[in-house]
Amino acid sequence: MERLQKYMASCGVCSRRKAEEYIKEGKISVNGEVITEMGYKVGEGDVVRFMDKVILPETDKIYIMLNKPEGCLTTVTDDRNRKTVMDYISGVSERIYPVGRLDYNTSGLLILTNDGEAANRLTHPRNQIDKVYEARVQRVPEPAEIFFFESGIFLDGRKTAPAKLEVISEVPPMLKVTIHEGRNRQVRRMLEEIDNRAINLKRISVGKLILGNLKKGKFRPLTPEEIKYIKSL
Ligand code: URA
Repeated sequence: MERLQKYMASCGVCSRRKAEEYIKEGKISVNGEVITEMGYKVGEGDVVRFMDKVILPETDKIYIMLNKPEGCLTTVTDDRNRKTVMDYISGVSERIYPVGRLDYNTSGLLILTNDGEAANRLTHPRNQIDKVYEARVQRVPEPAEIFFFESGIFLDGRKTAPAKLEVISEVPPMLKVTIHEGRNRQVRRMLEEIDNRAINLKRISVGKLILGNLKKGKFRPLTPEEIKYIKSL
């Protein structure tokens, strides 16, 4: 059991002092009853509402960056028992899930979290976050093909947003592709539309989150700066 104002503060709603004001103002209810008594204590099972919104304890938020290897699914479970990205995460008891999706044969940066709001921020098209991929391709594209690729390509009858395509190596042919949508197999399909093919595909960054030298199949927690960045989106 803990005092109502302490509970409010621990849920991240406001400071204890502010909560005391809200209690006095009759803005807080417990199990449907407005509480104005200052020493009121709440415990497990009590439903606290602040201005009609249920206040829940803040669970620990976890943010992880995985360098996803090829040959695993970006899902939490698979009914056919195939390898998933979760097989590479250990020692995390919270229920986390991947943000967005990388194909079975794509490697690279994948964020996993239990923070739904952060996941939304990273994937919402409105935020136009650059997703950068390195692709080993069949051949170096012609300038006209690069132009066509960058101006947006029709996939499923809808044009992709402008993208960026840079040649980073001619032998072997390697491209850096920047997109900010997350449509199904987008990079691979865009490359197919200019008669090319990704032999392998690796995501190296999502906005300011950078894979760096994190080894394939390894994960690390995000740094406080990286978490701050996600929350600022
Ligand atoms: N584009 C693709 O084609 N595949 C991915 O996994 C990610 C982006």
